[in-house]
Amino acid sequence: MARITAVSLKERKGQGGKIAMLTAYDFPTAQIVDAAGVDIALVGDSCGMVVMGRPDTLGVTMDQMCYHTRMVADAVEHAMVVADMPFLSYQVNPDDALRNAGRLIVEGRAQGVKLEGSADKFGGAITAILRAGIPVMGHIGLTPQSVNQIGGYKVQGRSTECRARLMDEARGIEEAGCFAVVLECIPADLAAEITERVSIPTIGIGAGASCDGQVLVFHDILGWGTVRFTRTFADVRGLMRQGCEDYVKAVQDGSFPSEENVFK
Ligand code: KIV
Repeated sequence: MARITAVSLKERKGQGGKIAMLTAYDFPTAQIVDAAGVDIALVGDSCGMVVMGRPDTLGVTMDQMCYHTRMVADAVEHAMVVADMPFLSYQVNPDDALRNAGRLIVEGRAQGVKLEGSADKFGGAITAILRAGIPVMGHIGLTPQSVNQIGGYKVQGRSTECRARLMDEARGIEEAGCFAVVLECIPADLAAEITERVSIPTIGIGAGASCDGQVLVFHDILGWGTVRFTRTFADVRGLMRQGCEDYVKAVQDGSFPSEENVFK
């Protein structure tokens, strides 16, 4: 099966098939995600919350993103691996942005990077990264790295003014040369309008069914995380807990290890 690329994803816009994107942060989960047929494995900075147990994504470092990205890239054979640029890795200046994006490609072996915010603010960073031949995915709407400014994880684009701003931002991301854009937590009708008006794929999370694709956090769809806003497709947390309880019980009552578990 041919490897999915930024170019093949862009070409799919308007062809009908939806893009499926899921997060992965380590080798075994990346293997599962890839085998399940996702188009994009996103090494999200959500690992700060989901894997590290923090209240936000702000403390995730470049070293940590490179570490997680490499594990994912080593596992994935078919999907495109996109790595998040963590807080302050691209906001300071375009040179820093390029150096850090380059680390995610060279050390992490990602095929593209994602960064949050408008081209008005970070167009210089996007241009510098693209000029080096690294595909960039945009991310607008609820941008978790700005949670302290936004005042919480809430729906964006409810007022007329905010809707217009988000439409401009989506166009700006397209004009800057990004190959796709994540629309997070915006009203479904606005996401539909943006999807209609931009020529790059829109990938929604809490943005309705009209986007060109959907992205969710691996742990959330499997009932492994603590977020409950999305559909849970399996109760993995329950299964894992049950497995651990059965193990503890078997050790305690002496039924493990049994004959077949010991070396002779
Ligand atoms: O960090 C992340 O996982 C993300 C997605 C949820 C879009 O940015």
